[in-house]
Amino acid sequence: MAPKKAVKKDKVVLAYSGGLDTSVAIPWLMEQGYDVITMTADVGQQADNMEEINEKAIKTGAVTAHMLDLRNEMIERFIWPGLKANALYEGVYPLNSAYSRPLIAQALVYIAQKEGAVAIAHGCTGKGQDQVRIEVCAGALDPTIKVLAPVRDWHMSREQEMEYAEKHNVPVPTTRMSPYSLDDNLWGRSCECGVLEDPWNKPPKGAYGLTVDPLEAPDKPAVVEITFEKGIPTAVDGRKMGGIELIGALNKLAGAHGVGRIDMVENRLVGFKSREVYECPAAVTLITAHKALETITLAKDVMRAKGDIEKRFAEMTYEGCWFSPLMEAIQAFVDKTQEVVNGTVRLQLYKGQAVVEGMKSADAIYRYDLATYSEGDSFDHAASVGFIKVWGLPIKTWTQTHEKGSVNFDSDVKDSTLAGKEIAKAS
Ligand code: ARG
Repeated sequence: MAPKKAVKKDKVVLAYSGGLDTSVAIPWLMEQGYDVITMTADVGQQADNMEEINEKAIKTGAVTAHMLDLRNEMIERFIWPGLKANALYEGVYPLNSAYSRPLIAQALVYIAQKEGAVAIAHGCTGKGQDQVRIEVCAGALDPTIKVLAPVRDWHMSREQEMEYAEKHNVPVPTTRMSPYSLDDNLWGRSCECGVLEDPWNKPPKGAYGLTVDPLEAPDKPAVVEITFEKGIPTAVDGRKMGGIELIGALNKLAGAHGVGRIDMVENRLVGFKSREVYECPAAVTLITAHKALETITLAKDVMRAKGDIEKRFAEMTYEGCWFSPLMEAIQAFVDKTQEVVNGTVRLQLYKGQAVVEGMKSADAIYRYDLATYSEGDSFDHAASVGFIKVWGLPIKTWTQTHEKGSVNFDSDVKDSTLAGKEIAKAS
């Protein structure tokens, strides 16, 4: 009998966290006929077993396991651009989870190309935007890449998944699994599901993991100075720090004062509203400081135009359009605005709030001599007369043309002088 020729299998690169879903995905993909290669991205998540993840992947059946330290990429290409844009989805969410997805997509495509894999795979469900982000971003980088989404496809309940795991010797978590769905990285922590799904419920203590309850925060505030160069934070309290250290230090300090808790119902891209609790101590502190510095350094019209762009930046990030021509153009605009965003901001961190106390910049266009009501005022008061004439001209012209401008009030206005008793008249 001729020796059996091994059939070469197609390879798939799986985004692997070491959790139950992506662990079960290994044998599941093997059953679909693939050799599974895992890719785990270190984006600063709080896993205490990072070193064991590759080992676990191999034990579970992966042929190769890759671990990429993407923390600096995450900071330089996503977090800092987001900070420069003061990006907050729907005005509140600092996009921590959303930033990691294009990066993970890129890492998957990178490993797929290196390993000659035909497909990539992720463990997202069919209800979130993470599936959209990963697939749209991967498609932007390699339009030919095939994407597999085991969790979206396998239609298993939690119980069936555990059963499947046991049958395929997938190590199941020995500690009690969190009742929440969690995702975290350097820029913050996202927590959803469980009791949070009823927006009337107050998030229980256990929903938080990075911050102290503001009610239990120290009675003594912390004061911190953050220095920015071209919109990027470079020092804390005068000490130069790289991104990883700086964000880590602020997460710790601001988190200890309960800063950065966000509880929101957000509009998902996939059509429904969901409730999520975020903890982003460094992000909230830095965005607060950065916004303040812009108030003294940016021209008024630039600030206004940037405000519109910032909203667009946040929405595009949330909606998975990171690798797009518009995003590139937006970032070029934002970068141009940041050339003058240099200086230092002093903040007070106290019981859940980061409040700006002071700011200074060599590039400030805030001018004391123009602003002051005291001695040294250089503002030309007389020039206001002509200015108001011209500024108000179109409005005056409108009134003259359309006979608008009634001074009558909508409701009854009581005039004390009409009753014959003038009660208070300043002398
Ligand atoms: N809702 C957030 C977003 O779409 C976070 C998603 C991940 N959250 C989670 N708890 N697993 O960006």
